[in-house]
Amino acid sequence: MENRTKSFIYAAIIGLIIVAIFLGFLSSMANPISWILIAVLLLIPVLYKKKSNPKQVQWREEYSVGIAHIDDDHKKLISLLNNFSIAYDYAMSESFEKEALNELISYTKYHFEREEKMMEDNDYPDLIAHKAQHKVMIEQVEKFVQLYNDKGHDALEEIASFLTDWLINHINGTDKQYSAHLHSKGIH
Ligand SMILES: [Fe+2]
Ligand SMILES: [Fe+2]
Repeated sequence: MENRTKSFIYAAIIGLIIVAIFLGFLSSMANPISWILIAVLLLIPVLYKKKSNPKQVQWREEYSVGIAHIDDDHKKLISLLNNFSIAYDYAMSESFEKEALNELISYTKYHFEREEKMMEDNDYPDLIAHKAQHKVMIEQVEKFVQLYNDKGHDALEEIASFLTDWLINHINGTDKQYSAHLHSKGIH
């Protein structure tokens, strides 16, 4: 079932429970059914959150490339990625989804440029191969924007899981390869 439909059903159930509680209290404030329904109402958000279980990524020390400002960029990318997953999982409005996607893309581009400049300035020998990976990623992301424009909300799950896997693998693999070279140039 689509997330939007699920959210609508949850909202409808919550609405019905509130009406039932109200009607129960009209007969008597001691009506046990109303009190049971209040407990159910309080449990719904907990169960809903557990069930929808957004794919959140946590920053781990092992992702560190040993260069503070690059780690900060990567942390920011992970947090934008999480915002984007939340936008999908909670079926938020189209403008929120678009904003989360655009923010993630523009920060990814900004970060790639910053990283490439750092490698260039420090004569990193694998610069060309690394830049090529960034370029492929940006091209893929642009295809995803097109996919989102065509399919809307339904495209987001595929986009979120690709971006999460790609970014984590890239940070934890390719990016880490420049650490030793840059450390030898005094960059920490
Ligand atoms: Fe990076
Ligand atoms: Fe990179």
